[in-house]
Amino acid sequence: MASNFVAKGADTYDSYMGRWSRKLAPLFIDFAGLADGERVLEIGCGTGSLTFALPARANIAAIEAIDYEAQFVEAARERNDDPRIKFEQGDACSLQYADGQFDRALSMLVLHFVPDADRAVAEMRRVVRPGGVAAATVWDNFGGQPGIRMFWDTLAAVEPQADSRRSAFLIRPTNRAHELARAFGKAGFADVTETALSIRMEFANFDDYWIPLLAGQGTHAAYLQSLPEATRQRIVTAVQSAYLAGQPDGPRSFVSVAWAARGTVPCT
Ligand SMILES: C[S@@+](CC[C@H](N)C(=O)[O-])C[C@H]1O[C@@H](n2cnc3c(N)ncnc32)[C@H](O)[C@@H]1O
Repeated sequence: MASNFVAKGADTYDSYMGRWSRKLAPLFIDFAGLADGERVLEIGCGTGSLTFALPARANIAAIEAIDYEAQFVEAARERNDDPRIKFEQGDACSLQYADGQFDRALSMLVLHFVPDADRAVAEMRRVVRPGGVAAATVWDNFGGQPGIRMFWDTLAAVEPQADSRRSAFLIRPTNRAHELARAFGKAGFADVTETALSIRMEFANFDDYWIPLLAGQGTHAAYLQSLPEATRQRIVTAVQSAYLAGQPDGPRSFVSVAWAARGTVPCT
């Protein structure tokens, strides 16, 4: 298996996560850097949240954007009208590019879904030229996402059988402090730096929070839908109570933190 991501269509992705990855993209570009004239590789582009933000920031020469999911590649192609951007299906662990072809390789919210993240980081290093830069970011699912953690903790309290699913969501390759930087160091990058990027996930009301979660990508949506109606109802009621916290339904805002690491390919 080359991807642990469960995809359920581009529109479903955008309402569940794309709306937040679009907010994260400019912060990630600030950290990763970008310059006019560069050839950029984006790994795990999904529906294009980062891809389409890149030409808005610099007059890039070309972007090759790959994703494992054909349905996302197709949706991104349909949205694209920039001849410098090419979307292709591809695997982060086995890039179809020759060594040193790119000035910059970027990957946003992907490596925690890749079964062999070390290999994916090594591939980023291989395809970036000496002196070029690679950067990646992943959500801090364990400690940096109170709004999503609220869902998992409530679910596991109401339905103890969900405990192992919560663990699988919270603890994934590269998603804890220093793991990304360690992977970059191991792959031979120089000048490795790590930081935390944060956005806020803003919801208009409980339905805006809950419906995309229920319909969304990921094994949790299929799991919820497989539960008996009465159990699911108890879960909805408990999660709603956590969302409302005794106040009328309406907007809520939760911080969401991502780890990010960047490194330079050594010149010798
Ligand atoms: C959470 S989405 C992030 C998508 C996009 N970068 C964004 O920020 O909206 C994770 C993406 O990683 C892709 N992915 C997972 N494993 C992959 C692999 N081995 N090679 C390429 N893409 C992969 C998935 O198909 C999915 O599009």
